[in-house]
Amino acid sequence: MRYLIGIDLGTSGVKAAIFDEKGFCVSSSTVEYPLYQPQNGWAEQKPDEWWEAVASALRGIMGKSGAQPQDVAGIGLSGQMHGLVMLDEAGRPLRDSILWCDGRTARECAEITEAIGAKRLIEITANPALAGFTAGKILWVRRHEPDVYSACRHILLPKDYIRYKLCGVFATEVSDASGMNLLDVPKRDWSDEVLEKLGIDAEWLPKMHESCEITGYVTPEAAALTGLAPGIPVVGGAGDNAAAAVGTGVVESGKAFTTIGTSGVIFAHADEVAIDPAGRVHTFCSAVPGAWTVMSCTLAAGGSLKWLRDNFYGAEMKAAAEMDADPYTLMTKQAELSPIGSNRLIFLPYLMGERSPILDPDARGVFFGLSGMHMRRDMLRAVMEGVVYSLRECLDVFKEMGVGFREMLATGGGSRSVFWRRMMADVYNCPVVTLKNEEGPALGAAILAGVGTGVYESLPKACAALIETEGRLEPDPVSGAAYEPYYVLYKDVYSSLREQFKKLSRL
Ligand code: XUL
Repeated sequence: MRYLIGIDLGTSGVKAAIFDEKGFCVSSSTVEYPLYQPQNGWAEQKPDEWWEAVASALRGIMGKSGAQPQDVAGIGLSGQMHGLVMLDEAGRPLRDSILWCDGRTARECAEITEAIGAKRLIEITANPALAGFTAGKILWVRRHEPDVYSACRHILLPKDYIRYKLCGVFATEVSDASGMNLLDVPKRDWSDEVLEKLGIDAEWLPKMHESCEITGYVTPEAAALTGLAPGIPVVGGAGDNAAAAVGTGVVESGKAFTTIGTSGVIFAHADEVAIDPAGRVHTFCSAVPGAWTVMSCTLAAGGSLKWLRDNFYGAEMKAAAEMDADPYTLMTKQAELSPIGSNRLIFLPYLMGERSPILDPDARGVFFGLSGMHMRRDMLRAVMEGVVYSLRECLDVFKEMGVGFREMLATGGGSRSVFWRRMMADVYNCPVVTLKNEEGPALGAAILAGVGTGVYESLPKACAALIETEGRLEPDPVSGAAYEPYYVLYKDVYSSLREQFKKLSRL
């Protein structure tokens, strides 16, 4: 029996999982690590704490699975995107990694836009300069920590640091590199023009691969630390969302997924490169060779519902704990008692500002239309509707760009709610399905390893054989029509408040 390992280096911890050839998870292990916030809006982690956690998770799965190390055919890496890892000549981290959710680089983003030109930057990198992306972080270190910058010889993304520790090579792949503001996304390689204009040394950047390609082999030193066998091939892998796409079978045109976790992501496959000239959604290289993806990110999706739960649903949380139940199940039962439109109440879910499609860090949450007759359950339903309107607004941009899909796969914690999935089907006007077994990006990374090492013939064939969907919900045109005027008004409310949000941020 041959096995495949997927490693997903997340923000709260790493998950390592070992799968058999049928995609069955034989054993998995998650090891957490801290997130450091030295200043308001900053977010950092220690690359060596990642590596220790990865080594421990790998020892865990190799110990528990019963698989012989020499039966592991390949390893795939996935992980949090955009983070900056800077290494010295000897390959040692020069500082803590600055993460995707760190917001310190507003000034550097303005500098990047100025140096390259807003339009040209989107043409090349397929995205505007965004605070979360890597290039701004490099310029921030150059400005604020010149000693670190002058000692730097290698720049890596988080999962690629794990590759370096496993194989001793400096390498990356196209899907994760797409989130750096340094990649020529249509050409799938570093942009000389951007590097030159920003004065970043191209020698510091890792070798570029496609996601399925073998990038290196486990060294004897790494094998001794992890319980792996030396010489196991490690493929490029993918950024977490691109790996999740593989793990959910979104590898062909017409396929897309929505994840409702803390944030809400819509991710669609595209055979041709499609870029929004206004930069309202991201275009990245896909983990599928020669394909691209369009992705949106609603910052507070499940996060908005969690905020409501934590502040207004203490009694349900207590009751759920006593019953060993999920408080969201009790809450959903109440939301179902409020009608479509929540008795004329609209919620804007901008509790964390917003990325897609409005790109407005100053936007904030709003309940619009509160009246004396409203009850907690109307506010609850309005929050769930507001999140789905926000996702629909992103989908409308996808459609404008010619990126279509036949059905939507719903994943993540929020998608466990049938009520929320039904709302999605009606508001998107599209069938919604779920997965039979949800393994997330680790399975996607393992499938990439299987394709790269010849266990599977191709990504579409592997996904067709391994991934099963269920619970198909068809859109209901009557409900869809009932939501529509509320959705239109939802968009109007933000447009009317845009300037007021700016004023509020200055108070
Ligand atoms: C994608 C993004 C997040 C991170 C962390 O653009 O910012 O999904 O990859 O998971």
